Amino acid sequence: MTPNSRACWVLSWCLPLIWIFGFTPIAQAYTPLSDDSLRSLPRPGNDFDIHKGTLLAPILRPRVPGSPGSRAVLEHFVKFFETTLPNWNIEFQNSTSKTPVTGNKEIPFVNLIASRDPPNVQPGNVGRLTVVAHYDSKFKPDGFIGATDSAAPCAIILHAIRSIDAALTKKWEVLKEDPAYELGLYDYQGIQIFLLDGEEAFGQWSETDSLYGARSLAEHLERTPHPALSTYKNPLEAIRLFVLLDLLGAKDPTVPSHFKTTHWAYQHMAVLESRLRKLGLFKSAKQPQKNGSKKKPQPVKPWFPDRLKHADDVFSPFGIEDDHVPFMKRGVDILHIIPSPFPDVWHRIEDDAEHLHPDTVEDWGTLITAFVAEWLDLEECLETDTLPSSRKGERSKTEL
Ligand SMILES: *[C@@H]1O[C@H](CO)[C@@H](O)[C@H](O)[C@H]1NC(C)=O
Ligand SMILES: *[C@@H]1O[C@H](CO)[C@@H](O)[C@H](O)[C@H]1NC(C)=O
Ligand SMILES: [Zn+2]
Repeated sequence: MTPNSRACWVLSWCLPLIWIFGFTPIAQAYTPLSDDSLRSLPRPGNDFDIHKGTLLAPILRPRVPGSPGSRAVLEHFVKFFETTLPNWNIEFQNSTSKTPVTGNKEIPFVNLIASRDPPNVQPGNVGRLTVVAHYDSKFKPDGFIGATDSAAPCAIILHAIRSIDAALTKKWEVLKEDPAYELGLYDYQGIQIFLLDGEEAFGQWSETDSLYGARSLAEHLERTPHPALSTYKNPLEAIRLFVLLDLLGAKDPTVPSHFKTTHWAYQHMAVLESRLRKLGLFKSAKQPQKNGSKKKPQPVKPWFPDRLKHADDVFSPFGIEDDHVPFMKRGVDILHIIPSPFPDVWHRIEDDAEHLHPDTVEDWGTLITAFVAEWLDLEECLETDTLPSSRKGERSKTEL
């Protein structure tokens, strides 16, 4: 057993004690990752390479709903789960609709829902962190790729869930040995991702020409009841936090905090950003040093500038119109990760592979991975054995 898996085992012995002293479900806390864990998070490698990258490259093509490009991208997602994350459950949620510019034709919209729940628990008793992006691209202009909108966010999500999957397996193997686990005394948490279709308007953005996939899915989840006595009435209620990524992949984004109720989660994201920078793990922060230049390095422009604001000062009624709206209207908590201002290339033909900033895409991959790992309490279960031995020394010192 590695020192790390020993730490993971400790969980199983401590938790029953906590249970004896309280009758509320054993809650998962949001647990910050140690510096070592942050350093050991899997790096994206060539996941995001725009030509050969296994995750991103296949998405960088037009994928208008119902088109061959859309079907090919969907197949790419399915293949990713089948080959890389076979423990995940995949479902489609389909609908059709006419649009203002495609006449009487019913356009198909296919949402992909991939989830992983803790073992041996009724689905109605599992709350889920939900990470979301849309995979469709705009109908016009012809050939529009939508690299930031939202090919890159889809790839970032795939990278993040692949990076935490082994730790999640390890955590649940330990947890299910706990007597309290079988007795149903846990606050069971799983994770799901929505890759949504039909976010873009076909013509002019309006309530009925936009968010085709999201509107259909929110309604469907609300209408699907769980069995009586479930913790959550339906799968919509089981969404603990809806983290929506959109328009990511351009350099120097600034992401405002939109909602009072999730400002705390925004602040966790901001803290992670600043820690990753301090540890030198943010590639986009590294500035090329020019010899002989007397210029001071530019001050760091944080991605989450509202981090020091009070929650009361960040509220906006529905924020920026996006896939969260049909969920938010039904009471779901939303963390909307979208930069404002939008990238310069927004809704222009230039929003293509070549205009992505590769280091920024990679940094988002690392940041979202870290956030998901903290949310799911994976600190004790991440593999830090790959660190150089000098760093492992640091770890044991800080643990004592
Ligand atoms: C939904 O659409 C997908 C992709 O076209 C298809 O594979 C799947 O069978 C459909 N599901 C249902 C329930 O119709
Ligand atoms: C900068 O200076 C260092 C040593 O002073 C040298 O090794 C390096 O090649 C120089 N880099 C450039 C880009 O000129
Ligand atoms: Zn768009």
